[in-house]
Amino acid sequence: MNSCVTGLQWGDEGKGKVVDVLAEQSDVVVRYAGGANAGHTVVIEDNKFSLHLLPSGVVRSGITCVIANGVVLDAGEVIEEIEKLKKENIDLVGRLLISENAHVVMDYHKLEDQLRENALGKNKIGTTIRGIGPCYADKIGRSYAIRVSDLLYPDKLKEKLDKIIAYKNKMFAGLYSAEPIDTGKIYQSCLEHGKKLKPFITDTTEFLHSAIDSGKSVLFEGAQGALLDIDHGTFPFVTSSNASSLGMSSGCGVPARYVDKFIGVVKAYTTRVGGGPFPTEQDNEIGQRIRERGNEYGTTTGRPRRCGWFDAVAASYSARIGSIDEIALLHLDTLSGFEELKICTAYEIDGKRVEFFPANSEKLFRAKCVYKTVEGWSDDLTNITNFEDLPKQAKNYVKTVEQATSRPVKIIGVGPGREQTIYR
Ligand code: IMP
Repeated sequence: MNSCVTGLQWGDEGKGKVVDVLAEQSDVVVRYAGGANAGHTVVIEDNKFSLHLLPSGVVRSGITCVIANGVVLDAGEVIEEIEKLKKENIDLVGRLLISENAHVVMDYHKLEDQLRENALGKNKIGTTIRGIGPCYADKIGRSYAIRVSDLLYPDKLKEKLDKIIAYKNKMFAGLYSAEPIDTGKIYQSCLEHGKKLKPFITDTTEFLHSAIDSGKSVLFEGAQGALLDIDHGTFPFVTSSNASSLGMSSGCGVPARYVDKFIGVVKAYTTRVGGGPFPTEQDNEIGQRIRERGNEYGTTTGRPRRCGWFDAVAASYSARIGSIDEIALLHLDTLSGFEELKICTAYEIDGKRVEFFPANSEKLFRAKCVYKTVEGWSDDLTNITNFEDLPKQAKNYVKTVEQATSRPVKIIGVGPGREQTIYR
């Protein structure tokens, strides 16, 4: 059984928790897109660790973790994560495989991200400044890219870096009057990163196909969410990868037909960080209440997340493009205490009713929400493990989400712990 878990909103849906639960039945967990802009927390013997690049299955022994070609790898960051786990007696040699064809996020990508955001001022995207956009741009542009395998060939690497840094220095000086960066330091750290990562670097596409051929169970883990997808999200307020499950095939070389189940993760409400349209946003007391109750602050940047009602127009769209079979609805407990709750079931744009989410920011900025209002509940849900034991209003809320998205809700989260999960 191979499954793929992706977010159906603007990221931070809690995919890590779902992946962690499913990883128990998997042999291999694969990250296929994004980079150190993602973040999830793992707990090892009461110690909390924020991981940005290592797949969620990494703390379970016996699971092989793959960072596939579609990821942009911050080599320093992944080494730090590997070393942190080593201190906890989790040795990843032989268990972590990094694609030789993944692209490397260099320090100059992070600098470029920062310089560009600063220059954009109020029009900035609100990126995580992890160098994601500039690295993917160099990948697509081809001429100035560094792949993981380049870290293993010092002479060729030096040649490439000389060319790239000369180009970047001209660009940074011309556009941003920035000080030149020094090739020597970057080259030295690349050599060091290459040495440390060598035991992990391999052809992950070959590995994945032989794992599938031999009947291993593979779990594909998306980063961010479908609405941040570069092609199908709310451009330009998106990340630079195919963050929906559509990115799975190109991001790891395994066709989608090998996936038996696509699971879409949503929160019982909606959040987003950074700029961009957010039709159901509650920039008011309601949003503030959700933020505090749900601890809606970014794992990677610590930024407060924007909060709003559940947007079924957006989630249905993500479910459609993502071939989603079932939904995991998390943070239902966060909604306890509201007298009534709203679910957006359509938009009104320029006087017309719209039910198919337009992945066009200009239209979305003009969208007015048509809401279905349902009764809330005041009970604490955090100890409930059985669907039938939920208050009737909470059951009704889940059913309304199912109807509005035309997908069954099979997993319900009622708290951060693994045991605070209801299966149906
Ligand atoms: P970038 O991926 O750093 O370029 O950021 C582009 C947009 O995606 C910004 O709005 C970020 O806030 C958002 N973003 C990137 N990664 C995440 C994530 O893991 N969760 C939520 N939003 C994210």
